[in-house]
Amino acid sequence: MYVSDLALDDFRSYEHLVVSFEPGITTFVGPNGQGKTNLVEAIGYLSTLSSHRVGSESALVRRAAPGEEQPGGAVVRAKVIHGERPTVLEVEIVSGKANRARLNRGQTRPRELLGLLRTVAFAPEDLALVREEPVVRRRFLDDLAVTLRPALAGVRVEHDRILAQRASLLKAARAARGVSASMATSLEVWDAQLAAVDARLIAARVDVVTHLRDWVASSYATVSTVSGAQSEAQIAYRASLLLREGAAEPDPRRSTAWLEEEKELLDVEATTARLIAAMADLHPQEVERGANLVGAHRDDLSLFLGGLPAKGFASHGEQWSMALALRLASYEMLRHDVDAFGGDGEPVLILDDVFASLDARRRRALTGVVAGAQQALVTAAVDEDVPSEIDGARFKVEASTLTAVT
Ligand SMILES: Nc1ncnc2c1ncn2[C@@H]1O[C@H](COP(=O)(O)OP(=O)(O)OP(=O)(O)O)[C@@H](O)[C@H]1O
Ligand SMILES: [Mg+2]
Repeated sequence: MYVSDLALDDFRSYEHLVVSFEPGITTFVGPNGQGKTNLVEAIGYLSTLSSHRVGSESALVRRAAPGEEQPGGAVVRAKVIHGERPTVLEVEIVSGKANRARLNRGQTRPRELLGLLRTVAFAPEDLALVREEPVVRRRFLDDLAVTLRPALAGVRVEHDRILAQRASLLKAARAARGVSASMATSLEVWDAQLAAVDARLIAARVDVVTHLRDWVASSYATVSTVSGAQSEAQIAYRASLLLREGAAEPDPRRSTAWLEEEKELLDVEATTARLIAAMADLHPQEVERGANLVGAHRDDLSLFLGGLPAKGFASHGEQWSMALALRLASYEMLRHDVDAFGGDGEPVLILDDVFASLDARRRRALTGVVAGAQQALVTAAVDEDVPSEIDGARFKVEASTLTAVT
C-alpha cells in the first residue's frame, strides 16, 4: 500500500500542508528542526493513533506564535491506496478532548482507522527497543498485534481499564490492612475479568512473536556486521505467568522448553484459567503491595544474541543491529501477511534520520530494502546522508514548507 495524498492542519509545526506522493521512494532533506520528523510522525500517527515521541497528544497540536490565536486541534488526513482502492483516513486531534475520525469522509470511531494504513518506522530512538524497560517492547508487540488484527485495539483498551480498576481495589485493600468479605468477592470478579482480557492479549503477542521469530533471525543476519554463531538473533515471549508457575527464564543456550511453553499460551481458555489460579495464589502479596503482580502488563520480549541477553551483554553496535532487525522483521512479517487487503498488506516504510548513523554494510542492507519497498519515506538532514542508490522524488523541507526538488 502507499499514501498518495497527505493533508495537515495545525499538526506540530505545520499550519497547513497539502502534498501528493508517488509510490516508490520519497526523500525529505532539510536542516535540523525544519519539520521532517513532524511530517513522517503525522503518517505514523494515522497508522497507530499514537505517537512514540510524546505522552500527551496536545503536543501534536500546533503551538501558535505569540499574538496569534491558538488552534483548538490538529487534523491529519491521508489517501491510502491498497491495490486499486483508495481509502481516505482522517483524524482530528482536539486539545483536551477525545479524537474524532472520518473514514472516506463519513464519521467513525478512531479505532475503526486502525490497521488500514500500515507503517513500519525506523528511527535512531529504536535503540530503546533493546535497552529500555519492558514497556517499550510490550508496546512494540501490541502495535504489531493491532496492525495484524485491529479488533485487538478494543481488547487493549479493556485490559488497561480492568487492570487499573483491579489495582485500585488492591490499593484499597492495602489501606484497609486486609480484605473484607465484600472486597474478596469483587476481587474474584476482577480476577476473572482481567484474566480473560490478559489471555487474549498474551495470545495475540505470542502469535506476533511466532510470526516474527524467523524474520528476526534473517533480518539480523542481513544488518549485522559480523556473521557466525555470535550473530544468531533469537526472541522469546517472557511471560510473568510462566515464571510464576515455576518455569525457568528463557535461555536459548540451556533449553528450548520455552518455545513449547510459549506455544501453550496461544490457548486463550487454558491461559485464562491458569491466570485466575496464579492470581488467587498471589492475593496476599498483591494486597500487601497494592498492585497487580501477574499478567500481560508484567511480560516482556526477551532478545538474545548468540544465546546471551541483548540487554546487558551485547555491544552498542550489536544492540543497534538488533533494533534494526526488529523493525526490518516487522516490515517483512507484514509484507508477507498475504491475507490482508487482498495481498497488499505491505506497510509504508519510514526511515527517519537513520542513514546518518549507519556504517557502510548496514547502509547497503537498508538501501536494498528501501529500493524494493512499495513506498518508502526517508528523511535526512543533508543530501550526503542519503545513499546515492536512493533516487525517486525529493523534497526540501524548510520552516515546515515542502519544495519539490527537480
Ligand atoms: N506542537 C508544535 N507546535 C509548533 N511547533 C512544534 C510543535 N511540536 C514541535 N514543533 C517544532 O517542530 C520542530 C521540530 O521539527 P522536527 O522534529 O520535524 O525537525 P526535523 O526536521 O526532524 O529535525 P532533525 O533533523 O533535528 O531531526 C521544532 O522546531 C519544534 O519546536
Ligand atoms: Mg527529525
